[in-house]
Amino acid sequence: VSELESYFRGLAPGSDPLLAGLQQEAAVQGIPIVGPLVGRLLQMLVQATQARAVLELGAAIGYSTICLGRGLGPAGRLLTLERDPVLAQRAGDNLARAGLAGSCQVRQGQAAEVLPGLEGPYDLAFLDIDKAGYLPALGHCGRLLRPGGLLVVDNTSFSGSQDFNQALREDPAWLEAQLLCFLPGHSPERDGLALAVRA
Ligand SMILES: C[S@@+](CC[C@H](N)C(=O)[O-])C[C@H]1O[C@@H](n2cnc3c(N)ncnc32)[C@H](O)[C@@H]1O
Repeated sequence: VSELESYFRGLAPGSDPLLAGLQQEAAVQGIPIVGPLVGRLLQMLVQATQARAVLELGAAIGYSTICLGRGLGPAGRLLTLERDPVLAQRAGDNLARAGLAGSCQVRQGQAAEVLPGLEGPYDLAFLDIDKAGYLPALGHCGRLLRPGGLLVVDNTSFSGSQDFNQALREDPAWLEAQLLCFLPGHSPERDGLALAVRA
């Protein structure tokens, strides 16, 4: 770890006891979560865009859901999809512990089955499911997000994300940017993150 990386790691946001506990739980149980840096970014993006309707694909234990939920204003609502029933239950319990049960709802199910029945408009969507599900979900995100809505995509540096990255880049419906600082060797997260605005 370089001196520069250690310096920037030292600047990473701290976590309150609830998020710190979930980070610990996720680490012990091998559950991939976005972590404090991307978590803070998600909260900021919801806040900065003043999003009132947020859609998340892939809740796991609800860590990123809590971060997104914390960015919502009083009238804000969030729906998150999670296919695993046990994880969906845990995400719901953790949202309740975070005081977000009133604004954030967990729907258990496969994205491919739930997405066609959803109606927008959403202001912001966060995509964090299996990479095979990214490309099929892209069309739905385009349909569900309002013009000017923001799509946030995790794990775009994974090899399984290449087709998705290309589609996002080539589709005139999206104005996208791959955040190079999240590429391997450039950040503590190393997973890749893309932002795209719905035209
Ligand atoms: C990377 S984890 C999500 C982590 C979470 N966003 C966080 O950062 O705290 C991906 C989750 O998506 C769920 N998942 C994967 N593919 C899915 C799909 N097609 N539909 C719904 N959920 C899916 C998995 O069960 C897993 O819990």
